Amino acid sequence: MPKKPTFAFKPLRKYKLGKKILNSPHFQSTQALIQQEVAKSTTRTEIINYLLSLKEGKTSYLEIGVRNPNHNYNHIQAHTKYSVDPGIEFQENPVDFVMTSDDFFEKLRNGSLLDDGIRFDVIFIDGLHLAEQVDRDILNALDFIHEQGFVVLHDCNPPSEWHARETFEYKFTPAGSWWNGTTWKAFLKWRFNPAVHSCCVDSDWGVGILSKSQPIGTSMPPLNPFFEFGILDANRKAHLNLVDFEALKSLCDPY
Ligand SMILES: C[S@@+](CC[C@H](N)C(=O)[O-])C[C@H]1O[C@@H](n2cnc3c(N)ncnc32)[C@H](O)[C@@H]1O
Repeated sequence: MPKKPTFAFKPLRKYKLGKKILNSPHFQSTQALIQQEVAKSTTRTEIINYLLSLKEGKTSYLEIGVRNPNHNYNHIQAHTKYSVDPGIEFQENPVDFVMTSDDFFEKLRNGSLLDDGIRFDVIFIDGLHLAEQVDRDILNALDFIHEQGFVVLHDCNPPSEWHARETFEYKFTPAGSWWNGTTWKAFLKWRFNPAVHSCCVDSDWGVGILSKSQPIGTSMPPLNPFFEFGILDANRKAHLNLVDFEALKSLCDPY
């Protein structure tokens, strides 16, 4: 039987490997990108509150994926608010509906939770950050927003491929515990669809916005059909339709 190599466990080797990783260009450039992102000042909460303020009269808001409500949900100003979260990341999970978004929308459709005629002014999708799930959440959400309302998505603009990894649990990448998942792919897929208008506020990890009627941005041809991160990275302004908060304000119509 071959002898197991012992060098892999030597502290000096571990130290050298760690130093090599920390000094690598991938690690260092990702750290710089993280600094840049956290320095951006507009928050998802400000953007959502702005979008809700466009409505004259009573407003209604739905948040999919809440975690600690003090980080966003509790600061949202709407007359009626509902929250959905199965409680994976925050034990207390003080939400209205303790379930996944799929279960929620199924029950919403069959009228067993709320009036199935309910329509929201803003639905904020911030649940499971994997493209297939986010795509389904968008499809469902579009059925339950008012014609002039908005679907808002967190984490649409991952600064590096490490932020856009599929596996949330693996933290030994240059992005550390920061994670945007593959939400960007679902958002981009909807950017290809001429039936919706879309843009992404370049702050707070990319706040994507979709609307059936508000003129916030025209769709684009499917230029990244394999959803390659490198292609997104080289064209992110055009492909995500990145705008700043002031530009967003100039695009939206009160209703
Ligand atoms: C990023 S956190 C939400 C953060 C919060 N929206 C905020 O702005 O601070 C993601 C949340 O989604 C929840 N989640 C995970 N899978 C989900 C699913 N399938 N449906 C709905 N929520 C889900 C997790 O339990 C977690 O609390």
